Amino acid sequence: MTKKRTLITAALPYVNNVPHLGNVIPTLSADVYHRFLKLSGHESIYICGTDEHGTRTEIEAAQRNMSPDDYCRELHAKILKLYNWLGIEFDNFGRTSSRENHKLTQEIFLNLYKNNYIFEDTITQLYCKNCERYLPDTYVEGECPHCKSGDAKGDQCDECLKVLEPGELVNPKCKICGSTPEIRETKHLFLDLPKLSHQLENWINSTNWTGIIKNLPLAWIKEGLKPRCITRDLKWGVPVPLDGFEDKVFYVWFDAPIGYIASTAEYAEKTGSDWKPWWKNNDANVVHFIGKDNVPFHAIIWPSMLIGARDNWNLPSYISSNEYLNYEGGQFSKSRKRGVFSSDIINLKFTPDVWRFYLMIIRPEAKDADFDWKDLMDKVNNELIGNFGNFINRTITFTHKNFGEIPGAEYSEEDKETINAVEYLLKEAGSEIKAAKIKEALKTVLRISDLGNKYFQKNKPWELVKEDKKRCAAVLNVCCNIAGTLAVAIAPFMPETAENIWKQLGNGDSVRNREWKIRELPANQKLNKPEILFEKIPQKLINEYEKQFAGREFKVQEKEECLFEKLDLRVAEITEVDDHPDADKLYKLKINIGTEERQIVAGLKNYYDKEELRGRIIVVLLNLEPAVIRGVESEGMLLAADDGKNVKVLDSDESPAGAVVFVEGVKQNKIKIIKYDDFIKCKMTADESGRILYKNKPLKTESGEIKASGVKKGAKVR
Ligand code: 2FM
Ligand code: ZN
Repeated sequence: MTKKRTLITAALPYVNNVPHLGNVIPTLSADVYHRFLKLSGHESIYICGTDEHGTRTEIEAAQRNMSPDDYCRELHAKILKLYNWLGIEFDNFGRTSSRENHKLTQEIFLNLYKNNYIFEDTITQLYCKNCERYLPDTYVEGECPHCKSGDAKGDQCDECLKVLEPGELVNPKCKICGSTPEIRETKHLFLDLPKLSHQLENWINSTNWTGIIKNLPLAWIKEGLKPRCITRDLKWGVPVPLDGFEDKVFYVWFDAPIGYIASTAEYAEKTGSDWKPWWKNNDANVVHFIGKDNVPFHAIIWPSMLIGARDNWNLPSYISSNEYLNYEGGQFSKSRKRGVFSSDIINLKFTPDVWRFYLMIIRPEAKDADFDWKDLMDKVNNELIGNFGNFINRTITFTHKNFGEIPGAEYSEEDKETINAVEYLLKEAGSEIKAAKIKEALKTVLRISDLGNKYFQKNKPWELVKEDKKRCAAVLNVCCNIAGTLAVAIAPFMPETAENIWKQLGNGDSVRNREWKIRELPANQKLNKPEILFEKIPQKLINEYEKQFAGREFKVQEKEECLFEKLDLRVAEITEVDDHPDADKLYKLKINIGTEERQIVAGLKNYYDKEELRGRIIVVLLNLEPAVIRGVESEGMLLAADDGKNVKVLDSDESPAGAVVFVEGVKQNKIKIIKYDDFIKCKMTADESGRILYKNKPLKTESGEIKASGVKKGAKVR
């Protein structure tokens, strides 16, 4: 960090979404980072706010008979309250609908326009006749034209992360009324990303970043960036200051990141300072914390806007993007009441610090992570309480009881080595936070308490107190100083706990005024009465929460029929492969299913040579309604996984022909004949290693798991 100051931001939450725990990850990570920078004596501010524009706000405000502004104001306060409860400390939490943001957005736009990075074009847009409105991005869903994922939004596919232009979705549906929208032509403004792409590429190449924030933009630049439409036919947004565009506003993703600047300006106004040094002339670092679905906007579109506006804007110094947080193996869903939302956690029996601890120890840093109640209980009871809490508590309790104060000490060689080791770990944790490896840093902090426990255990102060009080004093002095160091080290993650430890150790000030340094607490400082830091989580509570947040789907599943159980899936061997006499893409196959031979038709000609199929062990659906396909009878269907590009047959090399394919926990209740339309309702998809999953469990036979090698995660079985 070479520059003097650092401006930290977290992705601005949409005002009308109650953030779920996954959305909280960037916000909380930024708070940890900010608290750490302050303890390191580095000047920094943390800026955030609500992302307010767009149709959803318009509609929901109207439904409540409120103006969008009043509606947003209410939600803004609600979200801020949740974040405050979690101990997240913003220097300013603004609103993208603020006057300042309107002004800055128009200014940046006009500069882009003046510099010839904006052009006008006609686009096709989706219009819902039933709802009488153009369908904005969040109100339309359909199939992604790139990866074929079935639930892409209008402006982005969360599966392959590609950004989409209006009208690109395949089979779009209006989310309000479910009808198929029609296509209309309208005039819009575009940000000329192709023209900016060279400058963007140079800048990205000049960073020392690694991973998705560098690879993704570089890969997209290589593919060729497309112009980005930055206006929309809505009312609630920043008006476009250009003749002929009076009835349009900017696309939310155009004004949202500018909201970071506007929120900084509000902070400056509050504090009587100037916002420009944070944003101009490279005087400050700008560090963004986001979830990975926001990477294209922060690493491509946002810097392109800043480059094109040519006003010495600071480009991001770093973007910390986390992977997705899943909920018990699936997705969070407000509508299905599945998963824990920030509005829920206030009412549960855990303190804000326990939430902070768990969310940061599972932070999806290198790969997606899973929120899991049992794991929460294990991590809190074993790592936080069993290791960290135990060390603090035994140290303070024992010292308080036998000395009442921090005893004076003459250190032995071993003591000095222990202190050096703690110092080393503290530095390591600091470097990790600086590199936004927050989960790693928290683990390193836990290594300090682990080391403390080992030292305590080895030196047996409970024996020394009877045999050698002087040595006992030295050991406890070391332990108290490790406890003091831990108070500092845990402070960014668990601020209340840190203050509590600090106070128990007899300090009168706040730990936030201290430095990220090993502690040397004054000998003879009186200790305060020891207190237990955390309550153990009982299994019963976890069982209760698991049920409470499982969502409607779970409850339905318990009673309702399960489609998979109706399928008769078997392993088969392909014995003969012939061309279909009447169709280019089809093969006529003979298969052996152990007890009999059958003939089936399969659309694999574009994907496999005959040689590749002959003798192959595959999976077939035996009870599919028999059909005559272009004159050839087909008694069953061969299963393949399709990711939109690759089609791969399901393999089961180890299994004998005829082996039953099942999913653990799903009783078989095969019906005689199943219709194709019913079969495709049973959603089976490939995971990253090609395993085929039904409701998150792998399909298998007695001999092993079923696989489709060479398809992308999410590929659908058909
Ligand atoms: O994905 C989201 O939740 C967006 N509201 C994030 C916006 S971040 C920014 F650039 F303002
Ligand atoms: Zn996609």
